[in-house]
Amino acid sequence: MTTETLTVEAAPARESGARRSDWWRDAVIYQVYIRSFADSDGDGVGDLPGIRSRLPYLADLGVDALWITPFYSSPMADFGYDVADYRAVDPVFGTLDDFRALMVDAHARGLRVIVDLVPNHTSDRHVWFVEALAAPEGSAARARYIFREGRGAHGELPPNDWESVFGGPAWTRTVNPDGTAGQWYLHLFAPAQPDLNWELEEVRSEMLDVLRFWLDLGVDGFRIDVAHGMVKAPGLPDVGHADHVEMIGNAVLPFFDQDGVHEIYRAWRLLLDSYDGERIGVAEAWAPTPERLANYVRPDELHQAFNFDFLGRPFEAEALRTAIDHSLATAGSVGAPSTWVLSNHDMKRHVTRYGGGAVGLARARAAALLMLALPGSAYLYQGEELGLPEVLDIPVEFLVDPQGIQSGDPSKGRDGCRVPLPWSGVAPTYGFGPEGSEASWLPAPSSWGASSVAAESGDPDSMLELYRSALALRRELPDLGAETDETALVWLPAPDGVLAFRRGDGFVCTVNTGSSAVALPVPGALLLATTSVSITANNAELPADSAAWWRI
Ligand code: GLC
Ligand code: MG
Repeated sequence: MTTETLTVEAAPARESGARRSDWWRDAVIYQVYIRSFADSDGDGVGDLPGIRSRLPYLADLGVDALWITPFYSSPMADFGYDVADYRAVDPVFGTLDDFRALMVDAHARGLRVIVDLVPNHTSDRHVWFVEALAAPEGSAARARYIFREGRGAHGELPPNDWESVFGGPAWTRTVNPDGTAGQWYLHLFAPAQPDLNWELEEVRSEMLDVLRFWLDLGVDGFRIDVAHGMVKAPGLPDVGHADHVEMIGNAVLPFFDQDGVHEIYRAWRLLLDSYDGERIGVAEAWAPTPERLANYVRPDELHQAFNFDFLGRPFEAEALRTAIDHSLATAGSVGAPSTWVLSNHDMKRHVTRYGGGAVGLARARAAALLMLALPGSAYLYQGEELGLPEVLDIPVEFLVDPQGIQSGDPSKGRDGCRVPLPWSGVAPTYGFGPEGSEASWLPAPSSWGASSVAAESGDPDSMLELYRSALALRRELPDLGAETDETALVWLPAPDGVLAFRRGDGFVCTVNTGSSAVALPVPGALLLATTSVSITANNAELPADSAAWWRI
């Protein structure tokens, strides 16, 4: 056993960072979707040793931290977001020792590690749920979940009209040991993901203990899954109309964003703060307004919340500017940094959302420079630094995402953003697995050779080199990163379709979201651009769908 000899040291300060207290306020955090990042053992599924082997790549890319999606023991009904044991590593991903070794190496490279916590629901194979199903109605075991009698003469109808985010009713009826139909249980996601009853003290204290387990192992924080879902409106009232779940993001719903959820985060913050090294919590919360979202990042709650408003905007100057202003104002009103995110493992990749092809790619390049110039913390989703598009033509026999399957609409599936990363070499798997392995849980398109890490490295026009340069500059330039009074974003006058802003006295970012070139007075010395910018005496011509960074 090597376990005892591995002590995970706290993450050291980065060389460039005098600003290391409050490291999270300007951190660039790279999301590792573990199944699809790097496969060390050739079983076609990414794993912890795979991530460990690629830490040099992440350090070289220039990110500050990685967030790793769930790697806990799981039957994989939702690919790890259905947790059977919160303190165990699923064998497909490795062992707890692999995790310890990953932490040691990450910290040695100055990379922090954030793990994913799934508190809203467990797997239906979690010991608590197995016990609950075996236990009688009204028992303590059932009280840990949300069991109710059905409606209708024989309880044949769900207890209320709530819909699952993945489609269909949010309730499944149980079968009693004698074979008769029994109570129903609530699952806001797949039937294999029963919702916990957060009214119960035992549930709260168990999850605090899970947090402690990972904090003791040295993790730097938690990404909190469905952070807005744990508390339900008293009495579980009907929504009153169908298809309500389509409106996630702005609807007021009795199962999302209830005020009671904040008490949980206040307790978690006390625990996080009792550890050294500034351990953080980041909420995956969908709230009806940016104001409601800001509640999650009040000083005594979580540190960050994903900014899905920004992600949801089209590549249009006005729309982006509105989201930026609103996010900065609302997060700022509670003293929190804004976050910026363009893609994740649940969304269509932004190259595709922005129109796909050459246009989508050009816009994605510009969006990267925009995002990395904004005040606050940025989240990158693996593969966006390679400019990967959504894979829209995965053969149907490979589709496995429960959101696509349960909704009966493959276009709602998330497999297309989860295709394993191309590292090097040739089809079928482009170096995803060990030498000679052709296994991959999702097939990669035949065109991905040119988008591999090896193919893009050293090519000055590649997306990868753009990200590397931008991240290096972001470290060097004192005006970028977290917002201070001196470096707050100041909008500059700009023609329609163009965003121009200043950070501090030394930096300007310009973004042309329009479909034709625009001439501007040269703001300063060109630092970096997404495509070539022609500069004549006093004018800079910004091509369509492009961005540039300037030193002033
Ligand atoms: C979050 C995750 C998503 C998962 C769901 C249920 O939205 O990001 O992947 O399916 O929660 O846990
Ligand atoms: Mg593997």
